[in-house]
Amino acid sequence: MPARLAVYPGSFDPFTNGHLDLVKRAAQLFDRVIVAIATNSAKKTLFTVEERLAILSEVLHNMPNVEVAHFSGLLVDYCNKVGAKAIVRGIRAVTDFDYEYAIYQLNQELNPQVETVFLLAGKEFSFVSSTLIKEVARYGRNVEAHAPIAVNRELLKKFGHFPTR
Ligand code: PNS
Repeated sequence: MPARLAVYPGSFDPFTNGHLDLVKRAAQLFDRVIVAIATNSAKKTLFTVEERLAILSEVLHNMPNVEVAHFSGLLVDYCNKVGAKAIVRGIRAVTDFDYEYAIYQLNQELNPQVETVFLLAGKEFSFVSSTLIKEVARYGRNVEAHAPIAVNRELLKKFGHFPTR
């Protein structure tokens, strides 16, 4: 049987502890996981693709079956290209459901061969979001409780503050 490969896509602007929890759990379920940064999103991002790639590579470097990549175009086409049969997405609370269900339906329509696996966030991550941690870091506050050290450092630098580590 070929190695089971999953793609965990997202904007990761920036990557949070909730995302990290999902990667760790996906890495237990699949032989390989590609954490794939979507680059053609209409969303205006704080970090460039190159910055996000560098941060993710630093945060995930000690996970042997996890790779970091970026893609443009449709997610299902990217999955085909790399040979992934599964997409991993996280759901924090019911507020995420409609959005995730819409993405799921669309991806199913575009390519029914690619399955989506939803993992529910642990309760300690249920309120962590990239948007909220950006808001807090903007005013110079540490967000290490909610994001990896590298993310905290780069966020504070981005907003012109001085990280202590
Ligand atoms: O972290 P996000 O912003 O919620 O991730 C959304 C993402 C990147 C998974 C979604 O926008 C996506 O898959 N974009 C790639 C383009 C695509 O395939 N669109 C159709 C499905 S929405």
